[in-house]
Amino acid sequence: MQTVTPKPAVLLTRRIPSDVLARLESACNVDLYDGAAAIPREELLARVAGKQAMLCLLTDTVDRQILAAGPDLRIVANIAVGYDNVDVAAARERGVVVTNTPDVLTEATAELAWALILAVTRRVAEGDRLVRRGGWRGWALDFMLGTELRGKQLGVIGLGRIGAAVASRAPAFGMSVACHSLDAPPARTGGAPAPVAMSLDQLLASSDVVSLHVPLTSATRHLIDRRALARMKRSAYLVNTARGPIVDEEALAWALREGLIAGAALDVYEREPAVHPDLFPLENVVLVPHLGSATTETRTAMADLAVRNVLSVLAGGAPLTPVP
Ligand code: 8YV
Repeated sequence: MQTVTPKPAVLLTRRIPSDVLARLESACNVDLYDGAAAIPREELLARVAGKQAMLCLLTDTVDRQILAAGPDLRIVANIAVGYDNVDVAAARERGVVVTNTPDVLTEATAELAWALILAVTRRVAEGDRLVRRGGWRGWALDFMLGTELRGKQLGVIGLGRIGAAVASRAPAFGMSVACHSLDAPPARTGGAPAPVAMSLDQLLASSDVVSLHVPLTSATRHLIDRRALARMKRSAYLVNTARGPIVDEEALAWALREGLIAGAALDVYEREPAVHPDLFPLENVVLVPHLGSATTETRTAMADLAVRNVLSVLAGGAPLTPVP
């Protein structure tokens, strides 16, 4: 009699595009958490038991307790480039591979960073709010003036893949680029002129737009605090498409209120989906709901890469994009 090898059991904590899901389902028994929001912790603990793989998002905290609840896990495939939600050291101790989704979201995230730079310097969201509430009284020469980018300096903190992609678009807007890298050697910025490397304080003091592209680690938590904000030009803008806790939100609200900087644009927050209430009344801050990688193309590619990582590891192969 022929023995049939059972398909490996996989936990998927969110819906993914149906064609990508179908590929996963053809090789695995998929337990999909189909809720609209993140899987509750208790449910994650219960459902990871007996699974050989887990595909998860930044909204799922994968710590020692979760890993212990899934002793059969061979891979945790995070559908995100950031993996601060996963205790990588604990996974390694258990021989669990952790993968992320680099590269496939670089362009989408860089585009959103530029959307935010333009939105905050040209008061796009503020203008939209004004028009909608019927507050527009007509054209005037000095009405809602913004700041032009040409001739200004973009300061990129963290010149990895996404930082480099943001920097490479700067010449199209006539901006020069300064950069500060915390550890890794700067990534290449395509054909664009090489950014000028600076200390963090130098970059903060001389840039007209500061854009954050470092991962969240103990070294980068509150990298942008009161002290850093006070170093920036009063005419400068801060843009964060990296991770919320890199910026002290309370300090940012203070700096915006006091006119220490001209404006800010945020895609990410310290306690998502909560946003510091002091930011809401401020017109000079653009707030968008963690949309960096939110294009149909990119989200599909992210899910696809996570699935390919899972299938490769479960088949005894190497992960395609293990976290460093
Ligand atoms: C994701 C992100 O949408 O990849 C990242 O690190 O922040 C976003 O692209 C999010 O993390 C989904 O898990």
